[in-house]
Amino acid sequence: MKRLAILTGGGDAPGLNAVIRAAVKTVYHQCDCEILGVKDGFDGFLETGGVNPLTQADVRGILPRGGTILGTANRGNPFAREVIHNGQVVIEDLSGQIIDAIHALNLDVLIVVGGDGTLRIANELFQKGVPVVGVPKTIDNDIYGTDFSFGFDTAVNIASEAIDRLHTTAESHHRVMVLELMGRDAGFIALHAGMAGGADVILIPEIPFHLDAICYKIQERVRSGSHFSIVAVAEGARPFGKEQVFAIPGSETYAARLGGVGNLVGKYINDLCGIETRVIVLGHLQRGGSPTAFDRQLATRLGSAAVRLALNNGFGRMVALQGQRITDISLDEALSVPKRVDIHGDTLQTARALGIAFGDETLPEEVYTH
Ligand code: F6P
Repeated sequence: MKRLAILTGGGDAPGLNAVIRAAVKTVYHQCDCEILGVKDGFDGFLETGGVNPLTQADVRGILPRGGTILGTANRGNPFAREVIHNGQVVIEDLSGQIIDAIHALNLDVLIVVGGDGTLRIANELFQKGVPVVGVPKTIDNDIYGTDFSFGFDTAVNIASEAIDRLHTTAESHHRVMVLELMGRDAGFIALHAGMAGGADVILIPEIPFHLDAICYKIQERVRSGSHFSIVAVAEGARPFGKEQVFAIPGSETYAARLGGVGNLVGKYINDLCGIETRVIVLGHLQRGGSPTAFDRQLATRLGSAAVRLALNNGFGRMVALQGQRITDISLDEALSVPKRVDIHGDTLQTARALGIAFGDETLPEEVYTH
């Protein structure tokens, strides 16, 4: 009897439970196997009681639920873990303990559901002989080799609904509303939600912006009779020639946390462009709650395909959506390059054709002062 295990790592994303459910159901319907659930990312391997059998009863009713029944950890890199020794914080490599735990459990395969950070850890474990299969998860949609990762569609729907709501209040008060959205170094959420919600300005990391260009667009709208505007700004967007804005700097073990660019843009529009502005940071609302039908379906297909890949010994590989098909690619390839918005692609071209500003527009000489 084969023994599989599944863990969810990194920030949560709507659809994680659908992956777990699909993997468990596939195991029980399609092979003579058992599947274990690992708690809190890789941490479960380090804790007593951190790895437990998953039964069909455990996954009953979880398809529409946000979060992950297994728990997750996005500060859980076992290769560089902050631990306290004699009152001192030291960085330790705990990967050996994890590999020992995996061997002690007699696992035939470990299914790792995660974003690029978690999949990178999975790939390192694979290089050290652990049979792993990856499932791409991220609301940011920034994993190369899969057209979409589950969680993204839900985040875009939540963000575009937020833009709809901001429209009515912006119009009533003749204000500019700046909405800061997640996405790390990729602008997919801001671009897709901005277009779906009818934003006037969209700022993404792939296109550094000029503040005057944003102001020009907003004033142009005022001149044409639209006394309100919506600016969707990705948290990773940055002014031309400047750095991204961080809420918390990174360290050897913790990734830096982006945040604050919305305030920078909002303050400029309010103070120097002269139009009353409010800034909203949508934050973790984009990750919470029930997944959309699209994400439930995608997560289900990926979870089931991961079990099939595992049973076919497709170790060191990741399931992926390409076109209409679920396929798989090596983790090496998936992690070789981050996925970013194609700034020459048709989506960008369409947005520009609709008059959406990205902050890189060439302005008439007399207004170009900064
Ligand atoms: O990668 C997903 C994501 O939600 C990013 O969009 C965001 O920058 C980050 O995680 C936030 O992480 P945390 O949950 O640690 O605040």
